Amino acid sequence: MRFAKVTAALLAVSAAFGSEVPAQQKQKIDPARVDGTVKSAFPTAPADWQARLTPDETMQQCSAANNTPPAATFETIQARARASIQYPADGKFVGNWKAGEGLAQSGYGLRFTDTTPNRVNGGNCYACHQITKQEVSYGTIGPSLLQYGKARNFSEADAKRAYEKIYDPHASFPCSLMPRFGTNKVLTIAQIVDIVALLMSPDSPANK
Ligand code: HEC
Repeated sequence: MRFAKVTAALLAVSAAFGSEVPAQQKQKIDPARVDGTVKSAFPTAPADWQARLTPDETMQQCSAANNTPPAATFETIQARARASIQYPADGKFVGNWKAGEGLAQSGYGLRFTDTTPNRVNGGNCYACHQITKQEVSYGTIGPSLLQYGKARNFSEADAKRAYEKIYDPHASFPCSLMPRFGTNKVLTIAQIVDIVALLMSPDSPANK
């Protein structure tokens, strides 16, 4: 019963917001209006949330260009993302895949309800990606990451690339829909290294 109601509501929303509108009739999006709507949706947000309601330069540039910026802006966004990446001090990009799997599954962090002391943020990777065959619940906004390391011969260069991807996806794909886990301080360097291990370790379930 409840599911039926939710599904009907979702259908109404998607109809209202144009999933049935042909691409050429898509309305132009006014970023200022979107920002205003986001701000007004959180009138009681705690003080430390205010900064999160103001899009940073990368978000502003992506929104203004509907995520397809002209070449010069594309390069500016990419350069800014690259410059923001901090690397592990020991130069090792592949940590502990078991810890990485826990982080990939966890959506904890940055929500009003996330107030448990000392509980670490997760990466919520499964919200958008398939990673292992064992996990049956995953989103498909991002590509499947099954066999990610195996397909790349577990190379050190690809482990570094995966680290950079997770740290700041705009470094390789400006205006990516993937969150900037390192740049925005959602995950620590050590946590990202553990998630890289989930993708790049030969013994990780992602590569079985
Ligand atoms: C909100 C959705 C979303 C979340 C959450 C997300 N991603 Fe992504 N990811 C994407 C999208 C979309 C792409 C494709 C565009 C791009 O490459 O930036 C992508 C691309 C990638 C790629 C590159 C794939 C390739 O073919 O080279 C990797 C690796 C990756 N994500 C890993 C992760 C990991 C690990 C996490 C969790 C820490 C994560 N993603 C969380 C949406 C997401």
